[in-house]
Amino acid sequence: MKLSKNILADYWKTNEKKFQRIVDEMDFRPCGVWYTDAFLFLSICDLLEVDMIIESGRAWGVSTELFAKYFDFEIHSVERVPDRADDIARPVLEKYDNVKLYENCIFNVGRDIIRNNYDKNIGIFIDGPKGKMAQDNAEEHLDYSNVKVMGFHDREDVEECDFHTFTLDFLPSYMYLNNKIFEKDPEQRDNGKLGWGCLVKIK
Ligand SMILES: C[S@@+](CC[C@H](N)C(=O)[O-])C[C@H]1O[C@@H](n2cnc3c(N)ncnc32)[C@H](O)[C@@H]1O
Repeated sequence: MKLSKNILADYWKTNEKKFQRIVDEMDFRPCGVWYTDAFLFLSICDLLEVDMIIESGRAWGVSTELFAKYFDFEIHSVERVPDRADDIARPVLEKYDNVKLYENCIFNVGRDIIRNNYDKNIGIFIDGPKGKMAQDNAEEHLDYSNVKVMGFHDREDVEECDFHTFTLDFLPSYMYLNNKIFEKDPEQRDNGKLGWGCLVKIK
């Protein structure tokens, strides 16, 4: 299914209060995705009737918690270097019944998670590894027919995708949703008005 920008814009208008409620519930943790980046991926997952998410790159688990709050279905979160921040992420994420945590590399466990869930429509969010080449590898590695959408974080390139936070003209008016991040970590404003960049490919 292909989505139009107008359908997405309507979805954001309809769900603005839900976005706001989830942001209000979040405690700030460092190095996480901007909330608007996650909401772009999540809104597309919802419109495509995704019913399971796999994330690569958990770190402090900001994205993981946003996903777990947004949907009731299973969120599989993979982290290659759990020593970095799992002491902070785990106590938060273990409160969510729908979160499953993996201490491994996505290239070791991603395919098995997909193969064990062929009955699911899967959305995949790659926030580690970083960079186009590594993320292209991950995309190829995880390219199964029940994967409906892939989101790639920290991407400034806007070609070769269906949607991108840098090119959607309705998104700037929702940037206020990230204010909590700017209050706690003002340097994040230096990342540009539209943040780190989230690129989405529909499969
Ligand atoms: C920027 S952090 C993720 C932030 C997180 N998504 C959030 O919003 O809080 C990127 C993480 O990706 C992890 N990572 C990098 N390559 C990975 C791989 N191949 N498999 C799993 N995790 C990986 C890194 O160890 C790092 O902790």
